Amino acid sequence: MGKVVEIKNLTKIYEQPNQALIILKDLSFEVMDGDFISIIGPSGSGKTTLLNIISLLDSKYEGDVFFNGSDISKLAENKKSEVRLKDIGFVFQFDSLLEDFNVISNIEMPNLILKDVEETEKAYELLKKLYIEYLAQKMPQELSGGEKQRVALLRAMRNDPLLLVADEPTGNLDPENAMLVMSDLKKLNDTGKTIVIATHNIEMAKQFSKKIYFLTDKKLKELKD
Ligand SMILES: Nc1ncnc2c1ncn2[C@@H]1O[C@H](COP(=O)(O)OP(=O)(O)O)[C@@H](O)[C@H]1O
Ligand SMILES: [Mg+2]
Repeated sequence: MGKVVEIKNLTKIYEQPNQALIILKDLSFEVMDGDFISIIGPSGSGKTTLLNIISLLDSKYEGDVFFNGSDISKLAENKKSEVRLKDIGFVFQFDSLLEDFNVISNIEMPNLILKDVEETEKAYELLKKLYIEYLAQKMPQELSGGEKQRVALLRAMRNDPLLLVADEPTGNLDPENAMLVMSDLKKLNDTGKTIVIATHNIEMAKQFSKKIYFLTDKKLKELKD
């Protein structure tokens, strides 16, 4: 099994006018092919900061971050965008759909814009994978919060990325919808997708993911049961 992400001695500091905020310090961590990892930590502990670094959205840090074997700090900016587009699917904490387009279009839109290719069939197949193909023609306003989040998840899956990263994907959902989204993630992991999420919900993390890490003292510690 290959390493999708390898982080060695990561330190992340936000420089403020009067002080330096140390958010992560000497953090080391690996994501292996096929993992489903939940990162748990209180608000402000640095989960989003870490996910952004893993997803190549932030490259201002000290330490080494390897993605799929490449040292990220040595990649040119255009190469980095390429990896981000092709190999990483990201679901943001407050992700939103394009209100003027139906579900299918929302899923295929990023590639329609970037590559000018229609991928209606692929988008439909993704919906079928989660048994929500009946949502295909609906507009975002017709969807529940949970359904919107599930569509955002599939939009992140559009390029069949090597790694799917979701920042508190159930954060704004009621327990029932949160369960649906978590079981979607498990379904995707069962078919081989490597997944890392941040979450507050330890019970669901235990129920659905394979490994749990706590972000505490600026480092990750694995929860062993
Ligand atoms: N761009 C930034 N500049 C300065 N401080 C930031 C920035 N982004 C986040 N922080 C601070 O870093 C800490 C960790 O934030 P974050 O990674 O968003 O935590 P979490 O996702 O666990 O809630 C917080 O104290 C936050 O205020
Ligand atoms: Mg966050």
